[in-house]
Amino acid sequence: MQYRHIPVMVKEVIGYLGCSPGKTYVDGTLGGGGHAQAILRVIGPNGFLIGMDRDPDAIASARSHLRDFKSNVQFVNENFIFIPEVLSQANTRGVDGILLDLGLSLYQLEGSGRGFSFMRDEPLDMRMNPEEENTAEAIVNGFSEKELADLIARYGEDPWAMRIAKCIVRARRRERIRSTSQLAEIVKEAIPARHRPRRINPATRTFQALRIAVNQELECLEVFLGHAADLLNPKGRLCIISFHSLEDRIVKQHFKALARGCDCPPDFPVCVCGKKPQVRILTKRPARPDPAEIKANPMARSAKLRAAERL
Ligand SMILES: C[S@@+](CC[C@H](N)C(=O)[O-])C[C@H]1O[C@@H](n2cnc3c(N)ncnc32)[C@H](O)[C@@H]1O
Repeated sequence: MQYRHIPVMVKEVIGYLGCSPGKTYVDGTLGGGGHAQAILRVIGPNGFLIGMDRDPDAIASARSHLRDFKSNVQFVNENFIFIPEVLSQANTRGVDGILLDLGLSLYQLEGSGRGFSFMRDEPLDMRMNPEEENTAEAIVNGFSEKELADLIARYGEDPWAMRIAKCIVRARRRERIRSTSQLAEIVKEAIPARHRPRRINPATRTFQALRIAVNQELECLEVFLGHAADLLNPKGRLCIISFHSLEDRIVKQHFKALARGCDCPPDFPVCVCGKKPQVRILTKRPARPDPAEIKANPMARSAKLRAAERL
């Protein structure tokens, strides 16, 4: 299938990144290159963009989509946790901004055949990078009942996590769970009919939990945020779009800690840690897409954008 994705909040991203001619950026989640294209148009022939994605299909598609800018882009098929290594290999000490647009592309959800969606009957894979080892099938068939319940509760925030885990373990005794439709049916049957959510598919939360676990999405975000400020030039910008509350909470907490600097306990009379504020938060509350954008692209409805500037 052709690579499809509609970038969200493009105008806001360009504004919060402070894009202007000649600047250098990293797009850590290149996808189809929609945001990258908007950035490249503004930074012009003297600007430079490093575009990273852990999914090789995204890199192939963005390479073609951005062919007119090829002398101003470096494509890297790598996890964004490795931005420090990529910058040092490119002999770049700091950049003027980093964008992360977290989550999945429409292509991954609908066209990759990797089992991200319960709407399609596909193998239970869910790897963003098919060369990585862990698959959803391995977790579903290999984790203990308690491990499964913890995972679905923590990453899916599903109140029925324990029952779902029990039903998965019971079902896999009969036969190995290999497909999205097998799993979606097991989850649906695990939740009593009168308690099934009305507005979303009953399997939504379990699928989200598995995807987060397979790709270690929250751990990657934590690792990135641990060194993000050091990668920026003074006045460089960090712009992160998240699509669920677990990610947004992590971004919010890290931004707060970076803006505060000192992390001594509040009852210490003087600071002993010596940590100084590293960023200024630009979004007191997260920016959201406007109603017209949500109408045109319903996938944008849960997007939250947070931005910060290096001091
Ligand atoms: C929502 S899409 C990005 C869409 C992109 N902004 C555009 O305009 O087309 C998210 C992308 O981030 C990638 N991704 C998610 N986590 C990643 C990580 N830790 N490192 C690198 N890429 C990641 C996914 O493979 C996916 O292609």
